[in-house]
Amino acid sequence: MADNPANSRPRVLSGMRPTGKLHLGNYVGALQNWVKLQDTHECFFFVADWHALTTDYDDTSRLADNTKEVVLDYLGAGLDPKKCTIFVQSHVKQHAELHVLFSMITPLGWLERVPSYKEQQQQMPNKDLHMYGFLGYPLLQAADILIYRPGFVPVGEDQAAHVELTREVARRFNNFYDLKGKPIFPEPETLLTPSPKLLGTDKRKMSKSYGNTILLSDEAAQVEQKINGSTTDRPKLTDTGFPDRCPVGNLHQIFSDPLEKAAILEGCTTASITCQDCKRRAIRSIEPHLGPIRERRRQLAGDPELLQEIVRGGAQKAAKAAEATMKKVRESVGLLPRASVKDVAARQDMHLPLRVPASIGKAVGNEERWKIRTEPWLERVNKNYPLTPDRDTRRLFITQRRRKVGLYAECQGSDGRWHFELKDRPLNVLVLLAEDRDRYLHDYILPQSFLQQYWKHFEREIHQGGSTVLIVLKRDPNGASLALKDSDLPIQQYEGGYSALL
Ligand code: TRP
Ligand code: SF4
Repeated sequence: MADNPANSRPRVLSGMRPTGKLHLGNYVGALQNWVKLQDTHECFFFVADWHALTTDYDDTSRLADNTKEVVLDYLGAGLDPKKCTIFVQSHVKQHAELHVLFSMITPLGWLERVPSYKEQQQQMPNKDLHMYGFLGYPLLQAADILIYRPGFVPVGEDQAAHVELTREVARRFNNFYDLKGKPIFPEPETLLTPSPKLLGTDKRKMSKSYGNTILLSDEAAQVEQKINGSTTDRPKLTDTGFPDRCPVGNLHQIFSDPLEKAAILEGCTTASITCQDCKRRAIRSIEPHLGPIRERRRQLAGDPELLQEIVRGGAQKAAKAAEATMKKVRESVGLLPRASVKDVAARQDMHLPLRVPASIGKAVGNEERWKIRTEPWLERVNKNYPLTPDRDTRRLFITQRRRKVGLYAECQGSDGRWHFELKDRPLNVLVLLAEDRDRYLHDYILPQSFLQQYWKHFEREIHQGGSTVLIVLKRDPNGASLALKDSDLPIQQYEGGYSALL
């Protein structure tokens, strides 16, 4: 079954290519249905901008604009970012990653046999479509779909073959790879949109390539003009006609109420109304539907920041779902896992040199200097290796595993070395913070094994109430070392080695 933790609704995914502004055919063929689904299903709807490149690779000047317009059409039509996830395909890189993995196991024959491959090439004889991306179109679509592991893909009849290929790819992947015997991809079902076919203004199928569309974004006056200029099914006033063979009749079927629909059917088939009257009434029926869409669209178009925020948030939600699938996919395929992004970021952050604020003037006392040096260091380290201050001993901290950490800070002495004077007490880890003349802070984290071996070699000063250990740190181009009575002990490998703090 579909994968939808934390959401008991069946998951749905669909998308459209941004080849231009959406028209009424897109609306009744898909969008209208999506708007209903967002109330009953966990929905992901996206704009397939990579797919637009498979045919329009040679002129991408309108791609970004078209993508934006389609997002506006989605939102205008009533998709609500609070109810569903709306995003742009190219913003979720995981789709491309899954596509590349699918490309390894998909036989060329499968792709060559998809009907749209040959059909589109024939439909566009002036375009060179002998491109890898074009052949791989349905495979990218399979990745778009399967990465969300949806139960259903609401599409029109023309996409059914693509969903069928998607199911085959899922099966093949599951056969090659699994996680402990469990298949990764459920096979999604096509959710055929029960779509009344919509004729364009010239009586052919409504399609952008015929230039016979009514756009969701058309102004009322344009809609009126297009409807009034439509070819109808009654060339002469005295002819009878059929609404389902007429673009205006189609509009009534979709947008008029049952009474009006019946009246038009009657009037058209008996030639008792004029087409002109019929058109006027179609305009009246459509406006309550298109008006609010146009208005929502206009408002959002006037707020580019809000629009950006919506697609950014959508991509974030989509990427989270996609990444969850990809984790399983990578593991099942046998790719080497990498440290999580968060860990890598944290580690990089830890390797930037820390600088002691310039505010550390001569005026402040020793205690104050100690705090100014150790606070930024503790802040950095505590994110990954929490250190709790020991209740009554300053400079002593406890790790999560209850190891004792001594934290000492010094600035460079006039001899170019750092002189640490430590209380002689049992420590599991010793941290030396060495501030250099440029105010950079170097941290040396000496683990228990090191201390056990060398503690007794350091110089001691016995005094009343105990003893003090004197440690002298030296830094030179060869690294850092601790000065012992008779030799130097190299310790550079302990700089920034935080694992002792675990
Ligand atoms: N091929 C679809 C179309 O032309 C667009 C699309 C791309 C899509 N990826 C998809 C549709 C995934 C549904 C699911 O409209
Ligand atoms: Fe079309 Fe209406 Fe004329 Fe019939 S009456 S042909 S539906 S415009």
